[in-house]
Amino acid sequence: MIKRITSYDEYKYNYKKSIAEPDSFWGEVAEGFHWKEKWKQVHSGNFDAVNFKWFEGAKLNLSENCLDVHLKSNADKVAIIWEPNNPDEENRTLTYRQLHREVCKFSNVLKQLGIKKGDTVCIYMPMIPELAIVMLACARIGAIHSIVFGGFSAHSLSGRINDACCKLLITADGFYRGEKPVYLKNISDEALKNCDSIKNVIVFRRAMIDIDVVAGRDLFWDQLMLNASDEFTAESMDSEDPLLILYTSGSTGKPKGVEHTTAGYMVYAGFTFLNVFQYREHDVFWCTADIGWITGHSYVVYGPLLNGATTLMFEGIPSYPDWSRWWNIIDKYGVNIFYTAPTAIRSFEAQGSQHLNDAKLNTLRVLGSVGEPINEEAWKWYNEMIGKNNCPIVDTWWQTETGGILITSLAGITPTKPSFATLPFFGVEPVIVDNNGVILNDILAEGNLCIKHSWPGQARTIFKDHDLFLKTYFSNYRGLYFTGDGCRRNENGFYRITGRIDDVIKVSGHRIGTAEVENAINEHKDVVESAVVAIPHYIKGEAIIAFVICTKKINDEEKLGKEIIQIVSEIIGPIAKPEKVFVVSGLPKTRSGKIMRRILRKIAEGNPEQVGDLSTLLNPEVVEEIKAVFAN
Ligand code: WT7
Repeated sequence: MIKRITSYDEYKYNYKKSIAEPDSFWGEVAEGFHWKEKWKQVHSGNFDAVNFKWFEGAKLNLSENCLDVHLKSNADKVAIIWEPNNPDEENRTLTYRQLHREVCKFSNVLKQLGIKKGDTVCIYMPMIPELAIVMLACARIGAIHSIVFGGFSAHSLSGRINDACCKLLITADGFYRGEKPVYLKNISDEALKNCDSIKNVIVFRRAMIDIDVVAGRDLFWDQLMLNASDEFTAESMDSEDPLLILYTSGSTGKPKGVEHTTAGYMVYAGFTFLNVFQYREHDVFWCTADIGWITGHSYVVYGPLLNGATTLMFEGIPSYPDWSRWWNIIDKYGVNIFYTAPTAIRSFEAQGSQHLNDAKLNTLRVLGSVGEPINEEAWKWYNEMIGKNNCPIVDTWWQTETGGILITSLAGITPTKPSFATLPFFGVEPVIVDNNGVILNDILAEGNLCIKHSWPGQARTIFKDHDLFLKTYFSNYRGLYFTGDGCRRNENGFYRITGRIDDVIKVSGHRIGTAEVENAINEHKDVVESAVVAIPHYIKGEAIIAFVICTKKINDEEKLGKEIIQIVSEIIGPIAKPEKVFVVSGLPKTRSGKIMRRILRKIAEGNPEQVGDLSTLLNPEVVEEIKAVFAN
């Protein structure tokens, strides 16, 4: 049994203990999981050498912890409830016994295709139970999964496949998002023109749309599964064997392959799920995130299954067939714990309340928020309209790199405060530092958020680029993990995350690097140089604004804008599309040639008077020109 903390006093006592004696704290927590061999050392390494490890010497298998351990007493409990995009299509449920069986079969399929422990497998699939089956089968045989969100383009997909040298791609013919088809197999075919490492493609027929088949490469899920044995002994994995790679954007360069390892990730996902949401035995848990993001990895699949919970997977979108869909789903399945993103909450808020007319929502007990800061207005709407003032809201701050939740309330146990993530989770020591790296020890503080000590769920490296890992997270402030977020601490010691302080943008909760978008825009034949900034957007949180310098005089700027938006969709994916494109003759730069995005942001936000001191600019005159472009 994983340990559950059930009172504020117990939180305080255990938090202190987790900081003072992390080894004894995490050792006890880890006892709640199933090990083939126990660890020799709970934790080793530090942030100076960037060589931290957890539960070294232990042997385990994550899929066994998600499935086999529940078979004795809970085999017929529902593990996954799946709700299709189209409400008229039949839903599906898989019990732990059924899920175990499918995972064993698919493990055999992977083995037969020559996939071995340590190989990388790319997954590009819709939100269907088969996606969870593939993840668990990879974990079962010891292959490393790299999931690519179904909204990414062929270009993004091939980049990720090549970076991780994936041998196998698992995809579907396609799926529908509302009424819109997404042609996953076509996109995959396009991507694979540039990928040599892929030997086979497994296609799950989901949408029954026509696809091309490449003989010798493409194989079909149903045929492969037909004769596969449903017995498979889980591979014995070392604690620090890589489990997964997940690409995420940073302020520079292309997306980074964040690598998580087996034991620490497992312990952290399982323990945070139980404690943050205060999950109870018969709860139905629904996290609306796509499994293509870390939230889906940790809290649609691994966290719930490690706890033997019933997790709901929804294939569709909130507005299809209409805006009452999510509330229908909550009532239909009696969802008890609901976890979603502020951007979704604000979209509902903007719809007026008629979509809630028929909703009962009386099974809900806990609400969660994740992905970006939640503004007070949205928090209140969520609390009143969905929680009926009766469900604690956990505002959970974390990142792809952290594996699980780091700063949060524990539902109904520790206090909440609108727009504050509040208190650190066990074992997490947040510190606020100023720009010189000085740790601000006063209780009231504002600055850059860092973490002082490793926690089990922490990413260990960037796939095949440990130097980049070091440089990105551990070089700004010596001996500290730098999160990239700004943060404020109030008189109660509650943390309020104020947003990214690097060149990372959060659009509808999606993490997008400015450099990535600029590189895509620069592919347009008429563009010489570009700069993108984020401006506040009520529903999306932030929206992307692009400034471009062109090779020639542009007569139809609207047309150019459309072409640029199209290029960004093709190169990255529609989530990275700029909201607006402005043609300018120059970009404000420092004498060393660095674009001053801060100035662009102030102008784009509509605060041109706040551009500040321009005396250090190489070309202060362009600022007036850009202001004029905006004033029109
Ligand atoms: C960034 C990480 C955490 C899984 C999903 C996003 C922002 C995340 C919160 C929150 C304020 C938040 C941060 C963080 N963020 N949760 N509760 N309050 N900001 O993972 O895509 O790696 O993004 O999301 O800026 O650094 P991600």
